[in-house]
Amino acid sequence: MKRREFNNLLALGLLATSLPVAIAACQSDLTSEGGSEAAGEFVPLGSVADLDAQGSLANENLQGKNLAVIRDPNTPDALIAVSAACTHAGCTVTWNGEQNLFACPCHGSNFNSDGTVDSGPAREPLETFEAKVEGDQVLVKV
Ligand code: FES
Repeated sequence: MKRREFNNLLALGLLATSLPVAIAACQSDLTSEGGSEAAGEFVPLGSVADLDAQGSLANENLQGKNLAVIRDPNTPDALIAVSAACTHAGCTVTWNGEQNLFACPCHGSNFNSDGTVDSGPAREPLETFEAKVEGDQVLVKV
């Protein structure tokens, strides 16, 4: 191999290994500078009294998110917040407290309380969010 060919291969190798890092750096800049200012803030979804009376709280458009909150069936003091948008085709899932499942009315997918798939056709879990109680309000971090 000639020296010039070697140098070309070396330069190409450096470019190939550094390009993903450069792209990732640009993406994180876009997220932090171009993202919504509300990203990562806790916002109220409803009252603790309504959560306990209904077994779940839901809001189909809380800062652009379709959300549902339940008490963790295994740890009732803890809350679980999920995207209520079914990962199969986007229908809104609802909480079934008797079966401890989020059920999708469109094609029958079921999701466990933590958002993982119980049965398809959905294959991906529901997105989860942080949630907490503050005073008498349930807050979700969106
Ligand atoms: S949209 Fe939920 S199962 Fe198809």
